[in-house]
Amino acid sequence: KILILDFGSQVTQLIARRVREAHVYCEVHPCDVSSDWLRQYAADGTLKGIILSGSHASVYEVDDKAPDAVFELGLPVLGICYGMQTMAQQLGGKVEAGRTREFGYAEVRARGHSALLRDLADFHTPEGHGMLKVWMSHGDKVTALPPGFALMASTEACPIAGMCDEARRFYGLQFHPEVTHTVQGRAMLERFVLGICGARPDWVMRDHIEEAVQKIRAQVGDEEVILGLSGGVDSSVAAALIHRAIGEQLTCVFVDHGLLRLHEGDAVMEMFVGQLHAKVIRVDAADLFLERLAGVSEPEQKRKIIGGLFVEVFKAEAAKLISSGASTKGAKWLAQGTIYPDVIESGGAKSKKAVTIKSHHNVGGLPEQLGLKLLEPLRDLFKDEVRELGVALGLPPEMVQRHPFPGPGLGVRILGEVKKDYADLLRRADAIFIEELRSTLEPHSGKSWYELTSQAFAVFLPVKSVGVMGDGRTYDYVVALRAVQTSDFMTADWAELPYSLLKRVSGRIINEVRGINRVTYDISSKPPATIEWE
Ligand code: XMP
Repeated sequence: KILILDFGSQVTQLIARRVREAHVYCEVHPCDVSSDWLRQYAADGTLKGIILSGSHASVYEVDDKAPDAVFELGLPVLGICYGMQTMAQQLGGKVEAGRTREFGYAEVRARGHSALLRDLADFHTPEGHGMLKVWMSHGDKVTALPPGFALMASTEACPIAGMCDEARRFYGLQFHPEVTHTVQGRAMLERFVLGICGARPDWVMRDHIEEAVQKIRAQVGDEEVILGLSGGVDSSVAAALIHRAIGEQLTCVFVDHGLLRLHEGDAVMEMFVGQLHAKVIRVDAADLFLERLAGVSEPEQKRKIIGGLFVEVFKAEAAKLISSGASTKGAKWLAQGTIYPDVIESGGAKSKKAVTIKSHHNVGGLPEQLGLKLLEPLRDLFKDEVRELGVALGLPPEMVQRHPFPGPGLGVRILGEVKKDYADLLRRADAIFIEELRSTLEPHSGKSWYELTSQAFAVFLPVKSVGVMGDGRTYDYVVALRAVQTSDFMTADWAELPYSLLKRVSGRIINEVRGINRVTYDISSKPPATIEWE
């Protein structure tokens, strides 16, 4: 395994993610662990190398140092940004406070023939120097190499942008190999963990399951757990994992607000009750939601009503389980499918001054209100790892690879007032669109258009237009199709779906869904449009 000592950088978890992507198990621990702890940690011989992360602070503002044992165990060490600076300082080099901050894209010249950077280049200068495109974020810099170190990389602004002592296998990078803007960053981290450290690439989700299961059992003991199941990927994977760990001690509460996709509620029940034999309480609250939404057409108000009522219904159901419970003891835990990106978002990384474009459905604060302890077994995982875990737990791949679906569901895809008839029409149109996306392959990649888009759905427009069907006139509703490609959902492009596919979808919707006689395709990008229409 690899140990990452965290000095508090916002991107430390990305280092862990890259290491795990190389299938090497790693753990992140705070930088202030003691040398004794570290020696103990390394005693069984499984530790193959150490990475020192960056920090948001300057070596002059904080006196965080790596425990001395880091440099005494004979293991390879990679210092990144602050990690390199503290390495330099602790081993006898010099660090100076920078007057200016270097932030963002930079071009770094690789020097020498280090095992870390040898022959890596994104381009060459006319003089034939290999250059790397990297991402920098630092104020201080190393100004004198520690004894035994050689120069490994430099930029104009930062003459010592990389250093190494190959005899001791100590490496330092001033830039950040863990972010994707550093083009060869993945290669560098792979070289470090696989090549230099010689770690075995044997970390797979199957192993992680066993470990996660043990951890849940140790945490929960014989107490009971409640989980809010939505049918989305995160809560489903969390449910499957916890069920694997504690079986009958888990009760899932599935609030069906009636604004789900076609047959979705039944599919959730079939998967969890039929296949996994988990305990699921399905609360059919469709009528209640429709009642409260009657006459409301303002999007934010709709979102608030749906979010609030969701919590209300869930709490009522949870309260029953807490007071009496399936057992006499009553539930003590609330499980949530929080994943690592949620942790970052709520950790204040997101700007506080951001205006609310859309108020998101969120159930923060529930555990305290209910007096329950919080169980979050996916907290350290990234979305792609959660998906992999889901498949390893036996969830159907097509479920696990599903496009995201907003908490308020069809409530924000029916423009204006939500009515049951509208939802029924929309569900059928949407199902046809998704079915065709799944079954139409793009010939070059061999992938389906469902896989090639990040999110796709139909939107119900409560306007009527005139059409003709057979010999008759129709006067029916319109749906808009939306399909986007994005990597982060912050910006998105509308997908250039083939005309033949759009034609087939439109033909089928108009023929098969009586009540809809016109289909349009949304060609707006985000920004300025958002992905959902409300
Ligand atoms: P927008 O429409 O803001 O959507 O471009 C960005 C992504 O967020 C999803 N979304 C939501 N997800 N609760 C959620 O869980 C919500 O209230 C919500 N609103 C939007 C949307 O589907 C897209 O993936």
